[in-house]
Amino acid sequence: MSSAKLILEGQEYELPIIRGSEGEVAINIRALRGTTNAITLDPGYGNTGSCQSAITFIDGERGILRYRGYPIEQLAEKASFVEVAYLLIYGDLPNAQQLEEFSKNLTRHSLIHEDMKKFFEGYPATAHPMSILSSMISSLGTFYSDADEEMDLNIVRLIAKIKTIAAFSYKKSIGQPFIYPSNELSYPANFLRMMFAVPAEPYEPRPVLERALNMLLILHADHEQNCSTSTARMVGSSGATLFHAISAATSALSGPLHGGANQKVIEQLRMIHRDGGDYQKYVDRAKDKDDDFRLMGFGHRVYKNFDPRSRILKGSVDEVLSDLGVKDPLLGIAKNLEEVALKDEYFIERKLYPNVDFYSGILYRAMGIPTNMFTVMFALGRLPGWLAHWREMVEDPASRINRPRQIYIGENERQYRPVAER
Ligand code: CMC
Repeated sequence: MSSAKLILEGQEYELPIIRGSEGEVAINIRALRGTTNAITLDPGYGNTGSCQSAITFIDGERGILRYRGYPIEQLAEKASFVEVAYLLIYGDLPNAQQLEEFSKNLTRHSLIHEDMKKFFEGYPATAHPMSILSSMISSLGTFYSDADEEMDLNIVRLIAKIKTIAAFSYKKSIGQPFIYPSNELSYPANFLRMMFAVPAEPYEPRPVLERALNMLLILHADHEQNCSTSTARMVGSSGATLFHAISAATSALSGPLHGGANQKVIEQLRMIHRDGGDYQKYVDRAKDKDDDFRLMGFGHRVYKNFDPRSRILKGSVDEVLSDLGVKDPLLGIAKNLEEVALKDEYFIERKLYPNVDFYSGILYRAMGIPTNMFTVMFALGRLPGWLAHWREMVEDPASRINRPRQIYIGENERQYRPVAER
């Protein structure tokens, strides 16, 4: 077994090396504190592996993303979201019988308890749909047991019900009656119907919308140890229920540096459009160290060359918009921004490329999805990934409660003095 040598204050220590199936190397420091009394410090965990996982492989330098070994390009083009969810959670693509059963279960469990409908009434009209989603997922846990034997059923319940909750929260926000799920439709078509159908009129989801949504959900389905997935593992590691872990992951996703970026991208593009479309001005602002403005949808902790998801999205955005007959001035601004930024020394030096959130918002907009629902769409897509990681963690005998260390930089011991003496 190969090892690494650490010389700490003159003393030499040997640390075991762990290799992943794609040749990645990790120095196992698990015993470090026990033998040296030192810890490692890595704010933001940019260099820290928190687990070993067999779900998703990313090579940020080469722009590779694979779910369980399958390239994202192939899955986005050929697979259904339900197949991909099964693949992520159970490790292999389903055969025909497994797929039929899984799909049937997802259909059967897509209703939410009627009592839960009352919860929607309590939220103010201004409530952000991500806050509603996270609270509703947590509330789902009050209706179902989290016993071990219910694990697979709870996984199905969450995937089945999240789209119903998401669509109901939208309907509530625009004051329309809820549309119940239909057992006849595919997962994406069912969601579109619950979002856009009205009781008085027949609704047939357009195949172009169904295909685009299927692809978007697949592209978002997993991304190894990102902030929200790590949150699901972190919360789950304490033994908290699956519903709590997924609710916490949803909250983590809402932030503008993570899933919330897709909403911010469109808000930013709109702002540039209103300002006369002068994108160069905003590239300059993003480069200015005295200005905290960032180009949303640019940069990634892992991808340092290109984000393969963004390439796929850019490739399909023209096609989908033309199929839908939509002309969006924001698309032109986005392409110009990308072109300018990719030639600019600041972005080249820092390896800042458009990420998945850069073009997804333009597609969602063309599909008629309101801006404040964009991050909910991301959550719908990412849910199978969260579930796969949570399941992998609870089934791994080596996993234990997540509990990082710190370097204390506060006051040394001092004595309490009563308030009158301070
Ligand atoms: N615009 C301008 N400058 C940027 C940007 C940007 N979007 N992103 C990073 N930089 C600069 C940053 O100022 C820093 O410069 P310097 O070295 O001179 O201080 C350098 O690039 C490295 O940035 P960082 O913030 O240290 O990188 P990070 O790995 O900690 O953060 C990130 C990654 C995605 C949070 C960041 O690039 C960012 O804030 N991007 C905009 C928000 C965004 O699009 N988020 C979605 C990420 S993809 C989907 C997801 O994960 O949910």
